[in-house]
Amino acid sequence: MSSAMTRLLEEKKIVICGGSGGVGKTTAAASIALLWATMGRKVMVITIDPARRLADALGLEAIQTKPTLVEPEILEDAGLEPKGRFSAMMLEAKSAWDELITSYSPSEEVAAKILANSFYQSLSDTFAGSHEYLALEKLHELYHSGDYDALVVDTPPTKHALDFLEAPHRMNEFLDRRVTRWLVMPYLSAGRKGLKLFNRTGGYLFRKLEEATGIRVIKDVSEFFFHFSQLTEGSRQRMTKVFELLKGPETAFLLITTPELAVLSEAAYFMKKVGDYGVPFAGVLANRVHQIRFPEASDEEIQIHLKEAGCPPPLDKVLLENYRRSQHLALGDESRLTRFGELLPSDVFLTKVPLFPQGLEDIKGLAWVVNELRRH
Ligand SMILES: Nc1ncnc2c1ncn2[C@@H]1O[C@H](COP(=O)(O)OP(=O)(O)OP(=O)(O)O)[C@@H](O)[C@H]1O
Ligand SMILES: [Mg+2]
Repeated sequence: MSSAMTRLLEEKKIVICGGSGGVGKTTAAASIALLWATMGRKVMVITIDPARRLADALGLEAIQTKPTLVEPEILEDAGLEPKGRFSAMMLEAKSAWDELITSYSPSEEVAAKILANSFYQSLSDTFAGSHEYLALEKLHELYHSGDYDALVVDTPPTKHALDFLEAPHRMNEFLDRRVTRWLVMPYLSAGRKGLKLFNRTGGYLFRKLEEATGIRVIKDVSEFFFHFSQLTEGSRQRMTKVFELLKGPETAFLLITTPELAVLSEAAYFMKKVGDYGVPFAGVLANRVHQIRFPEASDEEIQIHLKEAGCPPPLDKVLLENYRRSQHLALGDESRLTRFGELLPSDVFLTKVPLFPQGLEDIKGLAWVVNELRRH
């Protein structure tokens, strides 16, 4: 069976799911990855903060941030044919930062110094855009590992959906910032040998500053930047490569949205911005769409059916009202999505995933989305 989504997946190697908060990015990323695995690919989905039940269903709870192969039986039980391989991992900022520092530090000693640095410890928890940056680092690593031939990236819940694309720039800017350089410079000019001396002389200055300002972290901060600067050249090069990867023909950006007016207007702005960044924009997945059912049915016909099904009054009236309300929502969704679809360039597809009656936080729910993505 061929759909816009399956045709896209045939051609690409990386799919990035972006969009506003709560629209279903994680659900879509996991479902797309599952669909890809049923098409015979070795897939990895990098998820961020998945719902607990979903993480459990994918076996991610125990293993946390390590890539995990999901047993093919789990897919089979959900009615999916695991022709390829499906792996998933969860990105958790603190441990991902630690891992990054450990793997790119020039020596174990430098890594240990950074990890123990109190400024680093607070930074890695709170640094704005850090999830985005880490997701891109992970993407780079997994893409070049050669272990996977398809990667799906979930993006974090951000107030501003563009943070993901801005993360590499922001990181480079952060590293370039004058204050960063200023903090590193004394250490750099002191050199390794001079570090002890600097600690005595420069340390005096810091002590005075700390006394005057009451800020005790200055030394920590400057030490952090000194050690961190040894990693940054590599990071800058990797970010440049990741950005090339994001813009490359093997990558597709998918916008996840819901049919509400406010979300759609954010989506339109987002789409334009993605284009400005030069990232190939492939399609829009409209999620949680109310479905139009029995468009021709009159109230009388429905009541007759309800009666035949043994539905007693006044329940039949309540059900009829509910049905009319849901159809009203469905017609609204349809007209907004039609107007939104008219804004899309001709090579960008719009696919819809209906509102599922319950949450979708297990693998059977995801399998249901997979089938929807196959059909449309
Ligand atoms: N088609 C659907 N029908 C019903 N519920 C859905 C559907 N898609 C997603 N959900 C539910 O909506 C909630 C939010 O989904 P999800 O966590 O995937 O959103 P998100 O965009 O990743 O959110 P965040 O921005 O917080 O990361 C979840 O409880 C999920 O099960
Ligand atoms: Mg999410």
